[in-house]
Amino acid sequence: MRALVCEELGSLSLRDLPTPEPGPGQVLIEVEAAGVNFVDGLFVQGRYQIKPPLPFVPGSEIAGTVVATGPDVTTPAPGTRVVAMCGLGGFATHITAPALTTVPTTLDAPRAATFIQSYCTALFALKNRTTLAPNETILILGAGGGVGLAAVQVAKALGARVLAAASTPEKREAARSAGADETIDTTDDIKTAARSLSDGGVDVIYDPVGGDLADPALRALREGGRYTVIGFASGTIPSLPLNQVLLRNRTVVGVDWGAWQLHHPLEQRALLETLLTWTDEGKITPPSPRTEPLERAAEVLADLHERRVVGKVALIP
Ligand SMILES: NC(=O)c1ccc[n+]([C@@H]2O[C@H](COP(=O)([O-])OP(=O)(O)OC[C@H]3O[C@@H](n4cnc5c(N)ncnc54)[C@H](OP(=O)(O)O)[C@@H]3O)[C@@H](O)[C@H]2O)c1
Repeated sequence: MRALVCEELGSLSLRDLPTPEPGPGQVLIEVEAAGVNFVDGLFVQGRYQIKPPLPFVPGSEIAGTVVATGPDVTTPAPGTRVVAMCGLGGFATHITAPALTTVPTTLDAPRAATFIQSYCTALFALKNRTTLAPNETILILGAGGGVGLAAVQVAKALGARVLAAASTPEKREAARSAGADETIDTTDDIKTAARSLSDGGVDVIYDPVGGDLADPALRALREGGRYTVIGFASGTIPSLPLNQVLLRNRTVVGVDWGAWQLHHPLEQRALLETLLTWTDEGKITPPSPRTEPLERAAEVLADLHERRVVGKVALIP
């Protein structure tokens, strides 16, 4: 098989490697597309909290076809098209994965490969960590990015009114196409903009960005509002003023879907199956990602970390 290998931090090399055999409980998948996520770049740079020993193959989610199964595995059968979270190893032509973590899908490979992390994080945040009620208003930061755009669709599917904040017209347009009711330019005063678009304050903040946006976003929450902490794409972990949490009885909610799904594989499977059913029903329509050949992974990761990506990117091996 071919794979992109991180042999020293910060660089990737295309290598021929032995194709793995599926062990007990595993399937071998021929990868048709690999989703590129913010965390993949952090792994390659050695900036993620988990530091795999070198060499390693990055790539945390894939879509493809099962081509072989381990001795005790009956489903999914060879020929089944599946998506899988893999943590590492996705930037390759083949990968083994636990059968339990693979879920059949009818989505095309690029959309399937860019689906799991973004959409599961959104539903986990808005259903398991807080409850976004129909007719509530949510302000989504980084709404033109992968996690943010997925949250726009999931929030609309839950019946909410969505205010989408992003830095460029292109990203705001992507959020509007994904279903956002209103958009906010993050170079404006987002506290004032969000309050004026929500009759005095929003019910929920979805924040994958952090940095300077956090303080004004927190102040845009209404009485009883919830601030969900998703990530720090800005590179700065903000300090929130606790007097602003006390005022108006607000709540700050941590969301660590990545760790949760590792420890709750059956619940994660149910969450993913719910979301894939929603795609089959047309309740959510994941936008098609930009596609690039596997060899361009380093450029794509740089684009992602330098804010140039609208939505998602899938690598095609
Ligand atoms: N909690 C969880 O379980 C979980 C799960 C998945 C991902 N995450 C985290 O969520 C964050 C966002 O992931 P993503 O896939 O949505 O990333 P993304 O597609 O790159 O989007 C992030 C957005 O953040 C904004 N941003 C502001 N400053 C930035 C900077 N200096 N560099 C990059 N982006 C910047 C950009 O929007 P504007 O240009 O509009 O400002 C960008 O579109 C990451 O930190 C990721 O690790 C957390």
